[in-house]
Amino acid sequence: MANKHDLIIIGAGPGGYVAAIRAAQLGLDTACVEEESALGGTCLRVGCIPSKALLEASHHFWHATHHLGDFGVNVGEVELDLAKMLKKKDAVVKALTQGVASLFKKNKITRYLGRGTITGPGSVSVHGKEPLELTAEHVIIATGSQPMPLPGVAFDGERVGSSTEALSYGEVPKHLVVIGAGYIGLEMGSVWRRLGAEVTVLEYLDRILPGMDAELAAEGHKIFTKQGLRFRLGTKVTGVERAGEHFRVEVEDGEALECDRVLVAVGRRPNTDGLGLEAVGIETDRRGFIPVQGFRTETEGFYAVGDVIGGAMLAHKAEDEGIACVEQIVTGYGHVDYDAIPGVVYTHPEIAAVGKTEEQLEQSGTPYRKGTFPFIANGRARALGEVEGRVKILAHAETDRVLGVHIIGPRAGDLIAEAAVAIEFGASSEDIARSSHAHPTLAEVVKEAALAVDGRALHI
Ligand code: NAI
Repeated sequence: MANKHDLIIIGAGPGGYVAAIRAAQLGLDTACVEEESALGGTCLRVGCIPSKALLEASHHFWHATHHLGDFGVNVGEVELDLAKMLKKKDAVVKALTQGVASLFKKNKITRYLGRGTITGPGSVSVHGKEPLELTAEHVIIATGSQPMPLPGVAFDGERVGSSTEALSYGEVPKHLVVIGAGYIGLEMGSVWRRLGAEVTVLEYLDRILPGMDAELAAEGHKIFTKQGLRFRLGTKVTGVERAGEHFRVEVEDGEALECDRVLVAVGRRPNTDGLGLEAVGIETDRRGFIPVQGFRTETEGFYAVGDVIGGAMLAHKAEDEGIACVEQIVTGYGHVDYDAIPGVVYTHPEIAAVGKTEEQLEQSGTPYRKGTFPFIANGRARALGEVEGRVKILAHAETDRVLGVHIIGPRAGDLIAEAAVAIEFGASSEDIARSSHAHPTLAEVVKEAALAVDGRALHI
């Protein structure tokens, strides 16, 4: 006999587990099917969280070796204990995935361990220790994504692989070749560079971070180059060959590179294979994404959120969609404002953005005014010794409504929250400029950039 619930969610990543909690809050008998024993999805297990743990740890190492002396703190010889660093990262992951399990218990969400497949309208099979059949009026597909492979590059699960392997290299590579200068390439490239590896980033396009504001990406390119990352832009990788203990990365119209590790970070693709979508007539698009209208698939009772529906592959976007989808099911209304979803690259300095880029405004012919302010003119940034970067605010030329905010600089990922709220509330740059910002804080740079939109920045 099948176990009956009000809602079944397939996948316990940020989209699925947050949807499950919201559904439970709204009184639905909720089940979540997840094939990994740890809850939290890619983000908690092998994505956002472990990468941030390593970014923090490797930054401490770099800071101790390169910058502590500037503050009059002499620490002598600094030694890397990579095994301990990796253990600490694993402990962070464990605490958080267990935290999700506690949240499930607290909210009385039924958790099924096993692979979920759709078998018919309102029914899902769980392929775990013992096969189980579940039924529900509503099913949310939140199965996420996986690293995109690259033709000619075979992953060996260790030295040639994706971010998953790069989170656990047992030794610092001598020469790491990173394919792709996007989020993962820059974050994981930074980690291993800080720990002493030579890092070469190969990027197909003629710039890093496609999709981000070009001016800030160019500034990031300069800063990361100073940190020792080597970039080869406009470079197409055609294959990776094993050459004894080493690997040879072949590129089109150029010299091959020798290295001991290869990280492929050329994007991610949706997890929709083998899900049983055909059993209920859901067709994916050309790239495997599930088409939705307000999170509803073309089949009654089936919904999808997060990486499987495309758009920005970000944990917080999936979370927002999970909540909106459940609220729509229960209340008939749920909405995500895609213009107010920030994106953050957790390099040092961080790069963060929300809303439109300058290129997008130009392309759409939207008249805008621009205000920028550098961190070097901010007292707190000086005290921190982190003066690189700036804030750029783009506001509508007639209404002054904030359309886009782009930050490269210390704690940009935290500073962008104010900008996201401003966009969500339809604020003007004048609203930001007239809001009190504590002194001395990095947030004053946001306020000064808002003043600069009107040509009245104070401290420059
Ligand atoms: P990405 O889409 O950010 O960057 C991939 C890069 O690879 C692009 O610059 C692309 O032009 C380049 N590329 C593609 N094919 C290539 C080839 N054959 N040779 C050389 N370069 C090539 O993808 P990434 O970094 O793999 O990240 C995957 C997803 O994970 C992203 O969508 C991102 O949103 C998400 N993510 C988010 C993070 C965050 O929020 N901080 C951190 C890590 C990942």
